[in-house]
Amino acid sequence: MQTASTPLITDNCSLITGNFLRACHRLPADTTPVWFMRQAGRYMPEYRVIREKYSLIEICQHPELAAEVTLQPVRALGVDAAILFADILLPAIPLGVGLEFAKGEGPVLQNPVRTLEDVKNLRPVNPESDLGYVMDAIRLLRGPLNGVPLIGFCGAPFTVASYLIEGGSSREFLKTKTMMYSAPEVWHALIEKLSVVLSDYLVAQIRAGVQAVQVFDSWVGALSPSDYEAFVLPYSQKVLTAAKNEGVPVIHFGTNTATLLPLMKRAGGDVIGLDWRIPLDDGWRVLGDDVAVQGNLDPAVLFAPRDEIKKRVQDILKRANGKPGHIFNLGHGILQHTPVDNVKAIVDMVHEYSPLPAGEELG
Ligand code: CP3
Repeated sequence: MQTASTPLITDNCSLITGNFLRACHRLPADTTPVWFMRQAGRYMPEYRVIREKYSLIEICQHPELAAEVTLQPVRALGVDAAILFADILLPAIPLGVGLEFAKGEGPVLQNPVRTLEDVKNLRPVNPESDLGYVMDAIRLLRGPLNGVPLIGFCGAPFTVASYLIEGGSSREFLKTKTMMYSAPEVWHALIEKLSVVLSDYLVAQIRAGVQAVQVFDSWVGALSPSDYEAFVLPYSQKVLTAAKNEGVPVIHFGTNTATLLPLMKRAGGDVIGLDWRIPLDDGWRVLGDDVAVQGNLDPAVLFAPRDEIKKRVQDILKRANGKPGHIFNLGHGILQHTPVDNVKAIVDMVHEYSPLPAGEELG
């Protein structure tokens, strides 16, 4: 607990070391920190070797495999942060809805949640016992990461609820919105329950040793601002606040969120993730100077020639204008067939060209 005699870590800038954590706190960094959403995964040959033998869920449930896969991009790319290898849908397993990753089809939830009865039947979740393998992977990673900060994560209540209701991935979120509009009591019961489970899960990860957390509201851009405010904001706020109260920086991420940014900021987060649909400086202006930003290269740019990649990396750095509080990332996760060399090249470019005040000549 913080008391008047124990200074908040943010009171003393020199206590926060490493470019990633410094940027989370909007402190000056030697170079702009860079990491990638989905930096571990099928685009990496060393991941595919492990994936040939084990399913995605098996990797997550074996802490030594999850730890190894977490380390692969740190070794191969030289990124400034690691993200724990897990999945936002793991809590669906102890909730009792049945999770499977069908080949080529993405996640399948066998018992989708559609009625109040279904919500009541969700089992209580104790993260330390039910998802203990995640916390074990975190503990295993402390030594080998050798000071590289580890990011824990969970899905935001809306995005997780959408999978539970739809039974898998969705384009229109029609079942989700139909529940919101036609049976709001069921929606609120479900998302309230999820906000408790996800808060507890994130807090358990922080207590196991992650140095920052990211809350993925990947699909929240499907909502209008007024629906976000009425149906989502209080629940996201609960998860973001629970993490914040543990004293680590919190990254709040979504896509297609240009019209939701002020509300997402109100929900919480020291860092707000921006996708490529909004120029980084425009997004940061809307958010204001009192939050950090993360983003926002289009993942498809990694399939372009090196010169084009360089132009676009430099454009983002120029828009950030050397202002403390920018974490370089993609606007969404790395795509499956992305050339590894291009990912590595971006890390090197960001480190070489940053932080870059506007108007400075580029090599
Ligand atoms: O490197 C990392 O970023 C850490 C690992 C990570 C995974 N999933 C592993 C994974 C993270 C952070 C996630 C988050 C996640 N999972 C999100 C939010 C991020 C985003 O992309 O918006 C979502 C929506 C999910 C749910 C999910 N998991 C889907 C829809 C799929 C299938 C789509 C696909 O790419 O196949 C997954 C599978 C998944 N989770 C993979 C990985 C590496 C690919 C599957 C594999 O190896 O078989």
